[in-house]
Amino acid sequence: MNETNMIKKHKVLVIHGPNLNLLGTREPEIYGSMTMQDINNELAKQAETYGFAIDFFQSNHEGAIIDTLHNSRGEYDYIILNAGAFTHYSIAIRDALAGIEIPTIEVHLSNIHKREEFRHHSVIAPVVEGQICGFGLESYKSALYIVACKLQKEV
Ligand code: DQA
Repeated sequence: MNETNMIKKHKVLVIHGPNLNLLGTREPEIYGSMTMQDINNELAKQAETYGFAIDFFQSNHEGAIIDTLHNSRGEYDYIILNAGAFTHYSIAIRDALAGIEIPTIEVHLSNIHKREEFRHHSVIAPVVEGQICGFGLESYKSALYIVACKLQKEV
């Protein structure tokens, strides 16, 4: 193995929480017409331009998301998380994020602050690096761009 092959690629994990598997048909007036797969494809293309490896995970189950966060230790350099409705009340996901200490960016397709009051509060916000919301696909793409800035410090 030569020196170039030995350089470890940065790895990013994108986690989509509950109901995001329904994107494309779920309340398109709020979430747009792109499917989750469309979003993943766009992010995969973007990640390639940065030379990152990227993986995707979706679950409707809180425990499965927590297990995935735990298993990310030592595997991923950054996490981009749309926790869906869990954002607003899952102390367990908040604690998992605090426990794994992997830098995480919280994203939302919609602007949660402009919507129903129960969406205004994110219990995960205090344990992530930052939150991007309201820009649809661009929320995720901006998060990945920020990851590139942080990991490469030169994009
Ligand atoms: C969401 C916003 C949440 O309030 C909602 O429960 C979702 C999607 C978003 O991406 O805008 O499922 O996280």
